[in-house]
Amino acid sequence: MVSRNILFATILSITLAVVVTACKKEDNPPAPQPAPSDTSVVKMTPYELPYPAYFPKAYIADDNKLYEERIQLGRMLYYDPILSNDGRACASCHLQEKGFTVPGLYANTMPVLPHVNLAWYTNYMWDGSKKGTVEDLMLFEVSEFFGTDLNKMNASAKYRELFKKYYGADNITYKELSYALAQFIRTLVSKDTRYEQFLQGKINFTKDEYEGYRIFTTEKGDCFHCHVNPILTDNLFHNIGLDTLYSRDIDKGLFNVTGIQADMGKFRTANLRNVALRDRYMHDGRFTSLEEVVEFYNSGVRRVSTLDPVMTKPGKENGLRLSDVERKQLVAFLKTFTDSTFITNPALGRPE
Ligand code: HEC
Ligand code: HEC
Repeated sequence: MVSRNILFATILSITLAVVVTACKKEDNPPAPQPAPSDTSVVKMTPYELPYPAYFPKAYIADDNKLYEERIQLGRMLYYDPILSNDGRACASCHLQEKGFTVPGLYANTMPVLPHVNLAWYTNYMWDGSKKGTVEDLMLFEVSEFFGTDLNKMNASAKYRELFKKYYGADNITYKELSYALAQFIRTLVSKDTRYEQFLQGKINFTKDEYEGYRIFTTEKGDCFHCHVNPILTDNLFHNIGLDTLYSRDIDKGLFNVTGIQADMGKFRTANLRNVALRDRYMHDGRFTSLEEVVEFYNSGVRRVSTLDPVMTKPGKENGLRLSDVERKQLVAFLKTFTDSTFITNPALGRPE
């Protein structure tokens, strides 16, 4: 019996010890032990980037996995002029209703690039002058393009609290800003163009749209070689024969970045999603309508040494030679790249 009592007492004291420890824990929550990729001090909601199975895999940085809270923080920054020193926000030049670009030219030189499906990009800017992850690009945007004033950021009680909560940061640096912006930028996914609705059998094309689709996706127009489905760009560089002389630096394209003669006049293939919402086309905005762009491919391609071989395939030495009707049909098809869901989605718009 004695031994049973001792056993009982031992069990009792162990139980008490556990209860006491448990109470202590509640009084004094332990400091969280963050994994390297998850440095928040609160629990966050993981976010699955919504895109269809026919898309390639998106690039998401291992150390910046998507969370709803961080996306919202990035979205606040995107629409907040606090990032710049002159009253502009990212959204001043990247307007949702225009597919995250803006009409006209920036500084009289080039159209503003749209933000669409950048989670699939590794080359950025018209001439590819930036490479890497979306985080790398955002680092450039805040530290160089905007030259964000970090004292101003750290003086904001709101942002200090949010960056502490969601990134565990006591001090906001360019790294935190670029990581948060990258979260939001990756959610700018277009996947519901009229073209996709047609492919899924949800809508019918008009006869013109259908014929234009055939020109675009067959050897007749050859557009699909570079404007590859479904992202509508191969994210690579091509000389499509816009110029013969490269007297202006802006026309030299990738050559400005690499200094290699073979890169002269090469530009990153433009993404055609929402292309009909734009009013300036090509790296210098030289064309102001889709009709002009199509006429260029039809009859304006210049024979230069670095011209992409696709542009002068046998039978196309003198251009595509499309009829008036075919050119109209191709334009009608280009308009089916408009994604009205994307440009009106409240989750991508200005936060309340
Ligand atoms: C004053 C207008 C303006 C503002 C404000 C602006 N941008 Fe841009 N953005 C541009 C222009 C112009 C380009 C194209 C530059 C080039 O190709 O050299 C561009 C390009 C980009 C690209 C590259 C897209 C691609 O397809 O490669 C990204 C991403 C981007 N901007 C993000 C931002 C972010 C984030 C902010 C806010 C921190 C911002 N921009 C603010 C004008 C602006
Ligand atoms: C060899 C690759 C290649 C082929 C083939 C090609 N494109 Fe392009 N496309 C590009 C590149 C590169 C640009 C960007 C040029 C620049 O920045 O000056 C571009 C730009 C465009 C633009 C302007 C987009 C904008 O936002 O400014 C449109 C529209 C377009 N292409 C449509 C077509 C059509 C239609 C066809 C078929 C008739 C076609 N492309 C064939 C590579 C190609």
